[in-house]
Amino acid sequence: MFSYRHGFHAGNHADVLKHVVLVQMLQYLTAKDAPLWFVDTHAGAGAYSLEGAFAQKKGEYRDGIGRLWGRKDAPRAVSEYLHAVERNNPDGELRRYPGSPQIALQMLRRQDRLQLYELHTTESKLLRMHFAAAGRRVSVQAADGFAGLKAVLPPASRRGLVLVDPSYEDKADYGKVVAGLRDALKRFATGVYAVWYPQVQRQEAQDLPGRLRQLAAGDWLQASLTVKAPAGDGLGLHGSGMFIVNPPWKLAATLREALPWLVRALGQDRRAGFKLHCEQR
Ligand SMILES: C[S@@+](CC[C@H](N)C(=O)[O-])C[C@H]1O[C@@H](n2cnc3c(N)ncnc32)[C@H](O)[C@@H]1O
Repeated sequence: MFSYRHGFHAGNHADVLKHVVLVQMLQYLTAKDAPLWFVDTHAGAGAYSLEGAFAQKKGEYRDGIGRLWGRKDAPRAVSEYLHAVERNNPDGELRRYPGSPQIALQMLRRQDRLQLYELHTTESKLLRMHFAAAGRRVSVQAADGFAGLKAVLPPASRRGLVLVDPSYEDKADYGKVVAGLRDALKRFATGVYAVWYPQVQRQEAQDLPGRLRQLAAGDWLQASLTVKAPAGDGLGLHGSGMFIVNPPWKLAATLREALPWLVRALGQDRRAGFKLHCEQR
C-alpha cells in the first residue's frame, strides 16, 4: 500500500489551484436545474485539520491558503474559493481545510449526487465518517477510482463532472490517467473531466498534458500555476496544472483574471508564472 496522505499537503498551492478551478466548474454546472453527478476518483479524506500533526509537519498550507486567508482584494474566482474555505472556519480562524468532496458537498444541490472513490484504507474510513450524515446522494467506495469510472459512466443524469486527482506517487498513475480518460470519453463523451497534474522533474509529468490534449478532441483547457523554480536536487513540486476536457465556456475568461493574481500571491521566486491554453469548439 502507498504511503501518500493528503493531510500533509492539504491547502498547499496545488490545492489552491485545483479547488479554485473546481469551485468555478461546480458553479457553472449547477446553473441549470438538471441533476449533476460529481465523481471524485481520488477523493482523499474529505476534509483536513490544519492544526494537526500532518499539516503542521511541513506547514505547506502556509504557502497556499495561508497566504490568501483574509485577503479582500482577490478576483471573483479566488474570493468564491475563499468563501468555500471560510464556511469550514466559521470563527474566522483558519483551522480546517475542505477537500474536493467537502467543497462539492457544499455546492451541490438535493438533486445532485457525489460518487467518491478512495483506495487508502485509513483515508476511506475517514471519508466515510465525514459523510456519515450526508444521506443517500453521497456514495463512498473504498475502491480503485479508475475501475470505478468504468462502473459509473455514463451517469444516469447524463450530466457529470469527473475529478481525477491522483498523487502520482506511483509513476504508473500517469499512464492510468491517460487510459482511464480515453475509456471514460468512450463511455461518456459529453462529460466534463478535470485532471490535476503535478509540475515535477519527471518526464512522465512533462508529457502528460500533451497526451491529454490528444484525447480531448478540440475541446479542452489547460491552466498551470508555477510557484518557484525547479529545485536543484530534482525533487519537489514547483507547480501544478489542471487539464479540463469539455470545459464550461466561461472558465477561460474567469481564470485569465484569477491566475495573474494567484502568481503574485503565491509566487516564491522569479520563476513563478502561469499558463492558460484552450481550444474550444
Ligand atoms: C491528491 S489526494 C486527493 C485529494 C482530493 N481529491 C482533494 O482535492 O481534496 C489523492 C488520493 O488518492 C488516493 N488514491 C491513490 N490511488 C488511488 C486509486 N487507484 N483509487 C482511488 N484512490 C486512490 C490516495 O490515497 C489519496 O488519498
